[in-house]
Amino acid sequence: MEDVHPLYARSVSDPSFVDLEAGAPGLHLVPTCALASAMSRVLGPSAGPPSGPPPFCMLYGALRGPLSLREALCEYLNGELARCEGYVRASARELCVTNGCSQALDTLCSRLCRPGDVVLAERVTYFLCQSVFEDHGLRVVPVEVTVDGIDLVDLEAKMAEHHPRMLYLIPVYQNPTGATLPHASRRALVAIARRHACAVVADEVYQLLWFDAARLPPAPMCCYDDCAGDWPGVVSVCTFSKLVCPGLRLGWVQSRREALVEAVGSAGFVVSGGGLNPVVAAAVCEMLRSGDLAEHVRSFRAALAAAAAELSSALVRAFGPDVEIREPEGGFFLWAALRGSAGEALGGDSARVVQALASEGVALKRGDLCVLREGQQTARQAAVSARCARAMRLCLAYCPRERMSEGVDRVHRALAALGSSPAAHSAPLDA
Ligand SMILES: Cc1ncc(COP(=O)(O)O)c(C=O)c1O
Repeated sequence: MEDVHPLYARSVSDPSFVDLEAGAPGLHLVPTCALASAMSRVLGPSAGPPSGPPPFCMLYGALRGPLSLREALCEYLNGELARCEGYVRASARELCVTNGCSQALDTLCSRLCRPGDVVLAERVTYFLCQSVFEDHGLRVVPVEVTVDGIDLVDLEAKMAEHHPRMLYLIPVYQNPTGATLPHASRRALVAIARRHACAVVADEVYQLLWFDAARLPPAPMCCYDDCAGDWPGVVSVCTFSKLVCPGLRLGWVQSRREALVEAVGSAGFVVSGGGLNPVVAAAVCEMLRSGDLAEHVRSFRAALAAAAAELSSALVRAFGPDVEIREPEGGFFLWAALRGSAGEALGGDSARVVQALASEGVALKRGDLCVLREGQQTARQAAVSARCARAMRLCLAYCPRERMSEGVDRVHRALAALGSSPAAHSAPLDA
């Protein structure tokens, strides 16, 4: 299965495998028909001659992405997010289309930072972000986290100590913990970053995926930048990977600061290659204009909420009082810590745990893999890693809901087998 990312190879080739690890919409949830129909409206027989000129998306694209997409996206965001606390309406010139969040992060690193600079990030975070920063020779310094997201006291201390160029955080439905930074903390965070002249890069790929319309998250972080003061400011980074599917490679950045939008849209490779992904951008624009995207996101939210309820009850059935679940209010992940012998088994030798899970035909992401690596391991890092090794990040989006309970039973069986095996050994307890 060399057509897909290695993390997806087993679930694609083995239909009996239950993948609770992969962080993407499962193929059963991708709106394939709506996408195909949008694509055929863009490229199909009615799109070009003889009914009109060939579609412009066949040319090199506008550097910040097609204005038509940015306008349709603004209309969508302004409608969906209007009730989020702190929301400020977006306009098309505040957006730049990207190849998804990963490319945006990469470009922001190269445009805002120099090798050797420090970037701050939450200690427990998106497990692939560190390699993006390290590709640019950046030194990643962890900031502690609380149940409500980044710890502002530690953030201020780390800013004063390390003079970072950039702060990267996931303030909404965090990957992996599900935490959302409250409104007041967002205002305080921006004030801290401004005092230390540090750019804020908010990874908000799950912003639109709430489970309950009566409990919306606060507005995207870029809304909290009032553009006052001479400092780099705040940029929100978003993606269609989590709303539609990652194969689109389409996303956007949003900032109220011209310089930050320009930083992404005027990168050398964009100027040379033209706007990123114009054909897909045109198709997604069609999905926005037709209302298909809005309709899909509405049903996707309901599917994620139902999956969270399903997983939660399966965990309680399997592990009883030994599981502590952080019920997510949105996003892709449920974070659950195990106690007792199950916790000890999960926190044991990681290769053995992965193997035990694989031989039961199930995968999950153990929490310690979401902890930033430091050059020299500190006591704090060891303690957080040991605690997180007893937790699991379970994805709500990828595995069909009907198979989740079976997946949890397999996890339970794998850990029980490990626990009874004489070679099992436990990780040290948190200090
Ligand atoms: C927090 C977070 N940021 C970024 C990404 C990658 O997004 P994209 O596909 O848009 O590059 C992911 C995917 O798992 C993610 O969870």
